[in-house]
Amino acid sequence: MLNVQAVRRDFPFIRPGRVYLDSASTSLTPEPVLAKMLEYYREYRANVGRGVYTSSRRATEEFEAARKTLARLINAKPGEIVFVRNTSEAMNLVASGLGLRSGDKVVTTIQEHHSNYIIWLREKARKRIDLRVIGADASGDLNLPDMQREIEKGAKLVSVTHVSNVLGVKNPVEEIGKICRENGALLLIDGAQSVPHMRIDVKRIGCDFLAFSGHKMCGPTGVGALYIREDLQGDLEPLCIGGGSIEDVGVDYYTLRGGPYRFEAGTPAIAEVIGIGAAAEYLMDIGMENIEAHEADLTREILEGIQGDRRVKVYGSLDSGRRNGIISFNVDGMDPHDVAIALESAAGIMVRSGHHCALPLMKEVLKIGSGSVRASLYLYNTKSEVRTFVETISKISESAKGSTA
Ligand code: ALA
Repeated sequence: MLNVQAVRRDFPFIRPGRVYLDSASTSLTPEPVLAKMLEYYREYRANVGRGVYTSSRRATEEFEAARKTLARLINAKPGEIVFVRNTSEAMNLVASGLGLRSGDKVVTTIQEHHSNYIIWLREKARKRIDLRVIGADASGDLNLPDMQREIEKGAKLVSVTHVSNVLGVKNPVEEIGKICRENGALLLIDGAQSVPHMRIDVKRIGCDFLAFSGHKMCGPTGVGALYIREDLQGDLEPLCIGGGSIEDVGVDYYTLRGGPYRFEAGTPAIAEVIGIGAAAEYLMDIGMENIEAHEADLTREILEGIQGDRRVKVYGSLDSGRRNGIISFNVDGMDPHDVAIALESAAGIMVRSGHHCALPLMKEVLKIGSGSVRASLYLYNTKSEVRTFVETISKISESAKGSTA
């Protein structure tokens, strides 16, 4: 069980009058993570991997400890964790590093965030890859038979989100992983909306790459991680090369280091890496299962609360067991941005509104080019906040009825 009141005391942003329901966009950061980053700046502010003096060695140790913690979070080996800026950079690394050629088939889906979509459109324009986009229905179900057919006919890579950032629906990544393994396709998972909220095991999923961001998992901005299966690292061309990534350099040659270092050129975001490590420790101390169960509880309450209102349209499956704490909806007759503004002015509720960086899904499947309102939950949200949210939506919908009657 998660003690939500104790959790809330760790988050300095939380205070009366604020209801933060935008964690799918970026999460709040708890005091232990802030303290760990400040400690670096105050006590051992030095570069990593480049000094033999005490502070530099301590910085390197803390940096590498963060790598081990992230590895534990997703059941990988420390050498399989590459630090990047965010999920987008991680996915770009894979897209450009694979050296795709004309005719190579990449399978993705209509549900993807732009970060896992336009990278493939660019490879299609540049290299003429054979890009296949798997459809989905409005409840969030991918057309799995179609995906299976495409993979069986020969695909180099399948790139799919674990949880839709619009619908909150969980995709069957283990099943997809099995199909990929049976047919020799690589699997890249966008874990931006799953890693912060549930227990992830890359071995069980059977994926080759998994991308996620620190700022959505109680960590700082500007840091994320890419899991790259150990034996694939040597075949992947880094996005950027330079200091820290080399083994040897001569006047007319260079060789790159092995392991994650070949992808980490230049002085990294040291405080942020230490911070993402502290964030992963923080989440694991609370327990990923506890976090998932807490969010499921709140999601159920929101879905039950707002789906009774005929003027409120909720997108995606209404089965709370199939989704995490992301709820996208619209209020009849209202622009989503106006609903978001009304939520804040009426009750200090912060949500995202618009297309959520998923225009293909919005336009082709949900048919809402003008977007939706999106509430998204995390470990620090309470039942009382959820009730305030449901009541405020009901008042907003009532007033919209008045103005459009
Ligand atoms: N990717 C983030 C979101 O879905 C920013 O809101």
